[in-house]
Amino acid sequence: MHTLTEFPRQRLPELLRTMPKAELHVHIEGTLEPELIFALAQRNGVTLPYDSVQALRTAYAFTDLQSFLDIYYAGASVLLHEQDFHDMAMAYFHRAAADHIVHAELFFDPQTHTARGISIETVIHGLKRGCDTARDELGISSALILCFLRHLSEVDAFQTLEQALPHREHFIGIGLDSSERGNPPEKFARVFARCRELGLRIVAHAGEEGPASYIRDALDLLGVERIDHGVRCVEDPQLVERLVRERIPLTVCPLSNIKLRVFDTMADHNVMTLLEAGLCVTVNSDDPAYFGGYLNQNFLEMFGALPTLDARHAVELAKNSFDASFVSDDQKTRWHAALADTVAQLKQGPVS
Ligand code: HPA
Ligand code: ZN
Repeated sequence: MHTLTEFPRQRLPELLRTMPKAELHVHIEGTLEPELIFALAQRNGVTLPYDSVQALRTAYAFTDLQSFLDIYYAGASVLLHEQDFHDMAMAYFHRAAADHIVHAELFFDPQTHTARGISIETVIHGLKRGCDTARDELGISSALILCFLRHLSEVDAFQTLEQALPHREHFIGIGLDSSERGNPPEKFARVFARCRELGLRIVAHAGEEGPASYIRDALDLLGVERIDHGVRCVEDPQLVERLVRERIPLTVCPLSNIKLRVFDTMADHNVMTLLEAGLCVTVNSDDPAYFGGYLNQNFLEMFGALPTLDARHAVELAKNSFDASFVSDDQKTRWHAALADTVAQLKQGPVS
């Protein structure tokens, strides 16, 4: 790693863009671009409460998590058929390939669709087919993580799990998203216990808008292996120590945090504090169609606003993204080697 201290600063943006990386926190419904929302609305005969792509984009002025979620769920209303879910996933995978993402673990929200009368099979088959196409045509590895909506009841989550189980081989884990405040982890302790019994990987959004205690409870009551967001852990130094000791990764989403006002500006983001504490931090795009950019945009804006971040941090973040992923150790080793190759090449001259 010491050789990275000599990495030319002017090549940092190119390193950020071209280094192989994994994305572990992206809601596939949050990748629906306004143009695709309108195209699907037309294809499916759905009437939108916006006259134009521009009018929809103008509505993306969020003040907090809930103001975003209201628009995000409305956007998903154009998804009716298996092909729609496939096309949405493929649009994301093309962006991912451009950002040198080699592996993506995608969140999806079945309840957003089953509540509208769409079968869970339609959702899962469409997304799964997208993942297969991405592997075959783009060489991207991927997996699906089913999220329960925490503003709905635990009974609803149990029903969703039952509906999903016939398709068990198509998803690797369970997450928890939607409105955090007032919907603590304890509300879902029993359904997550069942998910663990089933051998599913466990993650949860915690410490985005909710307090640090929700992160602790996600660990103790849900058995999570990664924390999504988690930036508010710094409010509890003992919790930070525990996250470091147990090497629980945080999937941090910089542009999301600015757009949803978790931090005022990118210069105020606490990612440097998290890294200096020794946490396994990863960078992710969350809902890139709504928050102003895909994964490389997150890296570029974050490094642009925080000049203490350098090439060593870039490489650490890419390594962390592989280490925190749910792939085999052999696969992680291969991606670490590919990362080292990119860094070595870049030190000699521009790659692309
Ligand atoms: N937080 C909570 N729920 C979500 C998010 C988020 O950032 N994106 C999509 N659902
Ligand atoms: Zn999220």
